[in-house]
Amino acid sequence: MTAPDCCVTMAHMMMPQHANPQGNVHGGVVMKFIDDAAAVVAMRHSRSTVVTAAVEQLSFHHPVFIGNLLSLKASLNMTGRTSMEIGVRVEAENPLNGKIVHIASAYLTFVAIDENHQPKSINPWLPDTPESKRRELDARARKKRKNS
Ligand SMILES: CC(C)(COP(=O)(O)OP(=O)(O)OC[C@H]1O[C@@H](n2cnc3c(N)ncnc32)[C@H](O)[C@@H]1OP(=O)(O)O)[C@@H](O)C(=O)NCCC(=O)NCCS
Repeated sequence: MTAPDCCVTMAHMMMPQHANPQGNVHGGVVMKFIDDAAAVVAMRHSRSTVVTAAVEQLSFHHPVFIGNLLSLKASLNMTGRTSMEIGVRVEAENPLNGKIVHIASAYLTFVAIDENHQPKSINPWLPDTPESKRRELDARARKKRKNS
């Protein structure tokens, strides 16, 4: 049995070391968790060492507090020759009342690298559901806009 290579959900309980003295979690902590979740998807798909090439469209819509359960859902959106776009949705749950809020979403590009730190070819990803096909089309449009 092998792990699915298209997605991952990771969860972290927010503790005092993640926050400022007022109890707000640092944005940089959330960014690190976003990078970690996306890296897992990139490694699973490419079965390779990967590096973060770009992080795009990251905004924080709500604060995160100590005691929240932070959940990161990362999905492969598109593959290129050596690169992968991964989307990450971040939600925070208050486990005392079950309320869930959307904190942030981000798109990251990872590149698979070889032992000389050079980009290396990866297997293409073929979306097979209406939702994954839509995500791939959106990702290709983003890449086209970025390169134009
Ligand atoms: C990412 C990196 C490997 C790309 O190397 P490069 O020699 O520029 O590679 P290329 O120009 O051949 O591009 C390789 C792929 O990366 C993609 N890429 C490179 N820079 C990119 C960027 N800023 N945004 C999105 N994609 C990018 C290219 O589109 C290409 O994709 P494709 O092969 O799927 O078509 C190199 O820039 C690097 O090592 N950067 C540092 C990464 C790192 O350390 N990250 C952590 C920062 S703390």
